[in-house]
Amino acid sequence: MNRNSTLLLFGATGDLARRMLLPSLYALYADNLIEDDLRIFGTARSDLDDAAYRDMVRDALMEFLPEDRIAEQQIDGFLQRIYYQTLDASTIEGFSDLADKIGDISGGLSIFLSTAPFLFEPTILGLKSAGLAGDNVLIGLEKPLGNDLASSKIINDAVNQVFPEERTFRIDHYLGKETVQNLMALRFANMIFEPLWNAQAIEHIQITISETVGLEGRAGFYNDTGALRDMVQNHMLQLLALIAMEPPANLDAASIRDEKVKVLRSLRPVSENDIVVGQYGAGAVAETLVKSYADDLGDVSDTETYVAIKTFVDNWRWQGVPFYLRTGKRLSERRSEIVIQFREVPHNIFKDRGAKLESNTLIIRLQPEEYVRLLVMSKEPGLDRGQMVLREVPLDLSLTQAFAGARRRIAYERLLLDLIDGDQTLFVRRDEVEAQWKWIDDIRETITKNAMSPKIYNSGGWGPSTAIALTEREGVSWHE
Ligand code: BG6
Repeated sequence: MNRNSTLLLFGATGDLARRMLLPSLYALYADNLIEDDLRIFGTARSDLDDAAYRDMVRDALMEFLPEDRIAEQQIDGFLQRIYYQTLDASTIEGFSDLADKIGDISGGLSIFLSTAPFLFEPTILGLKSAGLAGDNVLIGLEKPLGNDLASSKIINDAVNQVFPEERTFRIDHYLGKETVQNLMALRFANMIFEPLWNAQAIEHIQITISETVGLEGRAGFYNDTGALRDMVQNHMLQLLALIAMEPPANLDAASIRDEKVKVLRSLRPVSENDIVVGQYGAGAVAETLVKSYADDLGDVSDTETYVAIKTFVDNWRWQGVPFYLRTGKRLSERRSEIVIQFREVPHNIFKDRGAKLESNTLIIRLQPEEYVRLLVMSKEPGLDRGQMVLREVPLDLSLTQAFAGARRRIAYERLLLDLIDGDQTLFVRRDEVEAQWKWIDDIRETITKNAMSPKIYNSGGWGPSTAIALTEREGVSWHE
């Protein structure tokens, strides 16, 4: 493994850096997971020196680290490796000062770019001009990387002129989540699931990412983006790809990404009847009154904060199996979950004794709780004179309990470490992103062509009632 000895964060004073990146780096440092000689440079427009930036970092750590993680001495040690250089990335001038400040990068440099999209290109050019884009430099790119296929190609082309694909790390933070990776363990480290993981045994699949939060002060970005592009284009499609892909040859980046992209390319275009878009109205979430999206935004808007979709993966394994996806803000609870609904048994031998059978359901809860639950039919105890009662009971695997002693790592800890180590497995390859955009662009076109405007739903519920109809007309209920 080739571990880089310098890390450079663009957008180093921003929200993502303060909330996620700096606390993640600190956690890696505190657990001795990064080398002693790793130097961390932050850069942004704010005019700060090392000392002022270190103060900012300290404040961010105090605010966002869990209490049991705060240890003064360790924080001091961590801050010693942090440096800062002011930079206006929109012009090329400042980049040589940045390079001077960083100095020797012969030990390899990993760059994490989380900046406004219009800064991508000048930043890449600036890095090149200052000699910060050589063979031992890796670049991590945080979304948004464009807002449709065409704009994502422009960004990718610009990046690609300087950083070849093997040195480009596109971030989808869902891939860094422990439970998302556990999907692969569940599927490919157990004999019992894979033989049934196909259209013969599975009736449909649901993927839900529901959130209770609303706009969260990101009005400009979110209103231009909407749920389809903010959540479905990336996180939900990556989950879908991991659920639907064929077994990869091994855990190499290429093997896994080759399998995922095949799924993404097999996604069937979605018809207008299979799309529901919604926008939150006022309501109550966890007993707190909340305003409507329009009030949060201070304007009327056609942006969707909720989307539900029925689609198919048109390949051999999944022929005829609907995949229902839904995500939304200001819903009843925060939940990321995959539900695998198996088919009925071919013949109910209990029928004459009055027993009704339910089909098996596998529920994979990714967050906030982490569990795998298999609903199985079981006989209710009793002497069964006349009638026999069968009931669905859960076979529960609580990952939180089973691995109670293990530290839960947030996605960015793993992703930053992989970026430092140069491991691309959990990053999204260009062909995947483009297949994702192609499918999303087509949906957006359908929405526009059919003048579908978002249905208002009450905050604190499960989205517009039309989303219920989307599944109910097929005799399916959303898992709630
Ligand atoms: C981000 C979206 O990518 O993911 C946000 O931009 C969303 O709108 C977030 O809230 C959800 O991430 P998580 O890890 O909280 O499920």
